[in-house]
Amino acid sequence: MTVTPAPSSTTNPLPLLLLGQGADPESERGVECPGDLPAASDPDLVDRARRAREALGDRAFLLGHHYQRDEVIQFADVTGDSFKLARDAAARPDAEYIVFCGVHFMAESADMLTADHQRVILPDLAAGCSMADMARILQVEDAWARLTDAGVAASTVPITYMNSSADIKAFCGRNGGAVCTSSNAQRALEWAFEQGEKVLFFPDQHLGRNTAVLKMGMSLDDCVVVDPHKPDFGVTDEDLRRARILLWRGHCSVHGRFTADSVAEVRDRIPGVNVLVHPECTHDVVTRADYIGSTEYIIKTIADAPSGTAWAVGTELNLVKRLADRHPDKNVVFLDRNVCFCSTMNRIDLPHLVWALENLVEGRVVNQIEVDADTTHWARVALDRMLAMPS
Ligand code: 13P
Ligand code: SF4
Repeated sequence: MTVTPAPSSTTNPLPLLLLGQGADPESERGVECPGDLPAASDPDLVDRARRAREALGDRAFLLGHHYQRDEVIQFADVTGDSFKLARDAAARPDAEYIVFCGVHFMAESADMLTADHQRVILPDLAAGCSMADMARILQVEDAWARLTDAGVAASTVPITYMNSSADIKAFCGRNGGAVCTSSNAQRALEWAFEQGEKVLFFPDQHLGRNTAVLKMGMSLDDCVVVDPHKPDFGVTDEDLRRARILLWRGHCSVHGRFTADSVAEVRDRIPGVNVLVHPECTHDVVTRADYIGSTEYIIKTIADAPSGTAWAVGTELNLVKRLADRHPDKNVVFLDRNVCFCSTMNRIDLPHLVWALENLVEGRVVNQIEVDADTTHWARVALDRMLAMPS
């Protein structure tokens, strides 16, 4: 067996940074916000946001991901999941400023899908994504070398979830792969298996496993986990040759918190409840749920449900609270008893939004997210392959 040099934990040390502290602009982990923020207690914040928004008019377009706080979402021109928002941004070539109320990888996608003269702004650079951080480009390149040594890279198609950094998307573009979202993961895997024999799926092992096993009839034995923190990525050459889907060891820190016990407990507490979860939840949880689907699917399922029905929803809490408020004729509850916001999504708050908008009014572009031309080119190749897949 050819042994690849030690994995990235030794060749590519990844110090843990506290959220929002320390500079690491190459990662999703973010840096400190450089600005002089208004105080969160300022009673004038909503008026200041409204005034700045009006002053910017059509020059600015505000996008709000479904997991954003209410105080921010009220100023969004459109709301959506990460894929819809990227498309919405691309559909507004007249807007000079795209203010992205979401997380870093979404702002990167918006920058890659918009014209050069448009500036994408993330109100707090510390709004990263812990899942996207779990697949770093140097780790992924080391893993690809490991697959090459095992003789399987040539027959493997890399697929990355939208929730990944631009350089990982570009890696997929360069190596014959594509991007997918939680709503088209099955289609992307079907496409990939037409191109090759195996798929390397990152960064979310759960979305990969749930799609392969529940939607495509594979078994758990067809999957192996590629762990960047273990020697040889925790797999033998034989594992790599035998498996059909190689799952990167990453997960969402929000959806990964739900457990089989959360499902059992809510079924005891609310007889007849429908359990509706996002496919980023663990296999244990999704196999116990009644309905599984992306953020947009969750919103539509609750909207279409008959009055009087009960729903326990396994996704981010800002969205679940909003769904409960929007549908008072239905009993919509959070799947777990513990509070579970996405801490990085929550970094975008009213003080950061006011700060970003007021700076734009003054002609100062702050927290611009820019992806370099080469990365953009290859990431667009991977994104365009996704867009070209038959629906
Ligand atoms: P979507 O936005 O594609 O629903 O993904 C869920 C998520 O975790 C976003 O960060
Ligand atoms: Fe990342 Fe999960 Fe937060 Fe989405 S909800 S931004 S995947 S940590």
